[in-house]
Amino acid sequence: MKVFTSDNAAGIHPEVLAAITRANQGRAVAYGDDEHTARATALVRAQFGVEAEVLLVWGGTAANVIGLACVTAPYEAILCAETAHLAVDECAAPERFVGGKLVTLPVVHGKVTPAAVRGALRGVGVVHAVQPRVLSIAQPTEVGTVYTLAELGALAALCREHDLLLHVDGARLANAAAHLGVSLGAATTAVGVDLLSFGGTKSGLLGAEAVVLGERAHARGARFHRKQGMHLASKMRFLAAQIEALLTDELWLRVARHANAMARRLADGVHALPHVELVHPVETNAVFARLPARTVAALHDDGYRFLVWEPDPARPVVRWMTAFDTTDDDVDGFVAAITAAPR
Ligand SMILES: Cc1ncc(COP(=O)(O)O)c(C=O)c1O
Repeated sequence: MKVFTSDNAAGIHPEVLAAITRANQGRAVAYGDDEHTARATALVRAQFGVEAEVLLVWGGTAANVIGLACVTAPYEAILCAETAHLAVDECAAPERFVGGKLVTLPVVHGKVTPAAVRGALRGVGVVHAVQPRVLSIAQPTEVGTVYTLAELGALAALCREHDLLLHVDGARLANAAAHLGVSLGAATTAVGVDLLSFGGTKSGLLGAEAVVLGERAHARGARFHRKQGMHLASKMRFLAAQIEALLTDELWLRVARHANAMARRLADGVHALPHVELVHPVETNAVFARLPARTVAALHDDGYRFLVWEPDPARPVVRWMTAFDTTDDDVDGFVAAITAAPR
């Protein structure tokens, strides 16, 4: 296995595929009025809070955009990291479908700081200014780092002080919770997260995510936002079956622990190499490294695939990602190739 581009380069986890096959029995009422959806919704609520409103969708961009659309008016702002998927990888979907304005904040190893949030709280109540409504953070961040519970608590307190909602893009929330050693709810709603996208696709689902709206984020008409946002799946039972599988026997945790451990193994294998510089703490299933362009080219020629995150003619930064299907041998082979590559 030579593809380290992303965790979504992996296929479908066998337990998930089996769940989809089991759901493929007979007929079920369409559009979510089926027993699979009821069970999946109950399982999501058991993680994040019994009062939560839960909407299943099939993509991560949609989960972010539909969740935020539920709580943001067109004259309001969403504060987010300058590196946020929302801001750089969603093709302006938030601007188009949510409306309002993304206000981007500087980051430290991918994390937004309370000081950066305070600096962006300008013009509150001024009719000429866009009104801050939501702080959106990714957990883990786009560079694989994890906000500690204390950091989350501080951001949540700041949000409450300024009447903002705290949104988490949890496309890889499982990996963050595994790193923190806490439940999905303890990593989010229990520390003051108001709404979130709970990702599944990167944990081995075919394609399913849950929008979770906590008490402060309850929206009139959330389900209409999902329909208008084109994510009311008619064959909802198959999205639900995947989420059910993810939340059964802690599949989310088993997958996340394994993927995180593979990234740790990769980082440990290369960190002492003089031509490799790890640029962010490795806390989940991504390794970010700066290395000579010659090394990158040689690895590509050798058939390895990974993203160049920060292009640079001399020393680009690359991203290597692991997933449920990455093996010790895959990692060790890659480490050997990096070690042997020209510098
Ligand atoms: C941080 C983050 N959020 C959301 C997404 C979801 O994106 P997609 O719409 O491709 O499922 C991704 C996917 O790479 C991501 O990395």
